[in-house]
Amino acid sequence: MKTAAFLRIIGFAIFGFLFLHYIGTTGEASIFIEKPWLWGAFGILMLIYIAGEVCIAALSSILYRSLKPEKQAKYDEDLVLAKENQFSWIKTTYKNLLGTKPVEEEGEIVLDHNYDGIRELDNKLPPWWVYGFYATIIFAIAYMVNYHVFDGTDQIEEYQIALAEAKIEIEDYKKTAKDLIDINTVVRLTKASDLDAGKGIFTGNCVACHKADGGGGIGPNLTDDHWILGGGIKNVFEVISEGGRAGKGMVSWKAELKPAEMAQVASYVLSLHGTNPADPKEPEGEIWVDPSAPVEEVEVNVKDDKEVEVMIEDQPVTGDVVKEE
Ligand code: HEC
Repeated sequence: MKTAAFLRIIGFAIFGFLFLHYIGTTGEASIFIEKPWLWGAFGILMLIYIAGEVCIAALSSILYRSLKPEKQAKYDEDLVLAKENQFSWIKTTYKNLLGTKPVEEEGEIVLDHNYDGIRELDNKLPPWWVYGFYATIIFAIAYMVNYHVFDGTDQIEEYQIALAEAKIEIEDYKKTAKDLIDINTVVRLTKASDLDAGKGIFTGNCVACHKADGGGGIGPNLTDDHWILGGGIKNVFEVISEGGRAGKGMVSWKAELKPAEMAQVASYVLSLHGTNPADPKEPEGEIWVDPSAPVEEVEVNVKDDKEVEVMIEDQPVTGDVVKEE
């Protein structure tokens, strides 16, 4: 067999592989990985193709041998000629594109001037250059009409459109990729569906230590103002994700629960705040004041000499700090 046949076989293999890969692949992995039997089918296809090439080569060799010697010589001659002229069309196209006169004909286009022996040729401009130039003129007109007559979208508008589209895409992405939440991005969820899901997770995993109503048992009361490890969505999320203090019994849940689920159960825990559990555990830890809460009104009531009651309300400030004496 000849080199050309080998090249054809290799080309066929590469083309076939890429074709199947691009046509067939739908998911992340190549179709060749998803459907390993395809390798077998591909191999059989290659065998058939190679058999075809072998048949053609054998046939032409038989035909050649059946020719008379003078015809064989003619055949060889034609083959050599065909090879020589194989790429002649490239040369002609190249010449035409350049548009210059060959050196032998330059006499026809030489100009009269003669500056100390330096003469000038009046060659035509190369067609590729001329047509390129015409193209820029047409482009310029189209451009001017579009942007200066009909007020097309300029860069800034295009940027803003792209930005708006990207925002929508990000929203969509977040909807499907809820598990991107971490301690820095978690927010308190308020939708009933999320809280219901949180309740389900709480009932399934947490009630043994925190009681069904959050009143506390082995674990602390989750309904009061007191938090050992800090209140608010971020702290609660972190405790659930990373666990409490070592040896206290509150383990890390991030291996069992997805980030979205931890956000749901954390939000559910916070929704228990202020409820009245049946048998509440003594408050543990400190009263937690949200440092990022919008504004707070602090009211200090001095009831008697020793007892000081601090009340914190989550309402916007309407007046100054009130002190009663
Ligand atoms: C094995 C018992 C146990 C289980 C189960 C358990 N906890 Fe806890 N939890 C504790 C203990 C004990 C603490 C106190 C940790 C400490 O003092 O460091 C705690 C602390 C907490 C705190 C912090 C309370 C504070 O005052 O700062 C939160 C929030 C919490 N748990 C939520 C949950 C959630 C949600 C689940 C279910 C996914 C859960 N816990 C499951 C025992 C448990």
